[in-house]
Amino acid sequence: MLKRLLNKKQLVVLGLNSGTSADALDLAALQIRREGRKVTVKFLSGRTRRYPDKLRSQVIETADSNDISPDRMMCLDNALGQFYGREASRFIKKLAVNGTAVDLVASHGQTARHLPQRSRTAGFTVNGSLQLGSPAQIAAKTGKIVVGDFRQADIALGHEGAPITVAAMARLFAHPQQSQLIVNIGGMSNFFYFPSSRSGQRTQAADCGPGNSLLDLLSQKLYGEHFDRNGRHALAGEVSQRLLSVLLAEPFFGDRAVSTGREAFGEKLAGKILILGKKLRLQTEDLMATTAELTVMAVVQRLGRLVAADRSLTKLCLTGGGLKNRFLKRRLAEIFSDLDVCSVSELGFDPDLVEAAAYAVMGEACLRCESLPTVFGRGGKQKRQPVLGIIAQPPQGV
Ligand SMILES: Nc1ncnc2c1ncn2[C@@H]1O[C@H](COP(=O)(O)OP(=O)(O)O)[C@@H](O)[C@H]1O
Ligand SMILES: [Mg+2]
Repeated sequence: MLKRLLNKKQLVVLGLNSGTSADALDLAALQIRREGRKVTVKFLSGRTRRYPDKLRSQVIETADSNDISPDRMMCLDNALGQFYGREASRFIKKLAVNGTAVDLVASHGQTARHLPQRSRTAGFTVNGSLQLGSPAQIAAKTGKIVVGDFRQADIALGHEGAPITVAAMARLFAHPQQSQLIVNIGGMSNFFYFPSSRSGQRTQAADCGPGNSLLDLLSQKLYGEHFDRNGRHALAGEVSQRLLSVLLAEPFFGDRAVSTGREAFGEKLAGKILILGKKLRLQTEDLMATTAELTVMAVVQRLGRLVAADRSLTKLCLTGGGLKNRFLKRRLAEIFSDLDVCSVSELGFDPDLVEAAAYAVMGEACLRCESLPTVFGRGGKQKRQPVLGIIAQPPQGV
């Protein structure tokens, strides 16, 4: 099966992603064609499937808790794998009805732990990132070859395991004549900057800090709602500069890490915000406004210099669920007033499917043994580039 795929110039790859928000599985089918060194990518179709409530609460509990047993982790890995496999298989069948045959599945999985900082373990210096959603389960359910565990090869080279989608995003978005700036506001927020060839700048990408993760937790605790729909609670509040300055003193904003997760911007910090809010006598809406402003400031801190340096930039394109939060969009448009703050849909992409599409690109690259650089603008070109992804084979026989 693997050999047959390798002989094909053109593959249809189904990318699967679920981000730190643990809200849904995003599926994106891409047609990827190779001619010599030239790779052409065409988006075919996609959909988003919400996590069943029970699955979502187990995922959030696992990601936010420090004392989850290995048994629970292991079972959730297989449960998620079955859910992904089921949804992928349904989508593959639907595509087949329309005459599209999926060749390969590429699945990021659900991040349960992301520890970018190295520490000593049993005499070894290690860091790590753990994604659940067993590729073997997906392969068994779909009958397709599955590429998963994209972060491990980057970690094995001593990096943080994030960001890893930069080269794939470049394949989707970079343009020789036009600098592109893309900000994804998912559970965390992150950015991609692809300069035009005449700008004299270099590609950059990193996590900015929190995205919706803290807002979602506060919405749950303060209003019993999964998220702040359209940012209405945040829009009704006032930003507390005192609380904001405490939040901006969080360690992530001071260190040089390029990635973060729910460990830094999850349950623990949400609890701290509630305590400080009481002390400062803030209204619930003020807590939402201040937390939303923290997301905005995290993005501004990362992008300020870059935007000033590239005068040819015209747009800041948003992706991810945070695009629908009007507080976030309005504040970013106010601050980056020289740019058109818009949806990535203006570049022809569905904002909910960009990451799933990037994993499809990465799955194809893995199959072709193509290494994708993960380090940009820091320390120059790396000697060794990772081939991202691990291949799981489907069962054989009838
Ligand atoms: N209508 C909306 N208004 C405000 N926020 C929204 C809306 N729809 C989705 N979101 C936010 O987007 C999040 C999901 O974003 P997503 O890009 O899927 O993140 P992730 O990549 O972490 O899964 C939700 O948890 C929610 O906070
Ligand atoms: Mg999501």
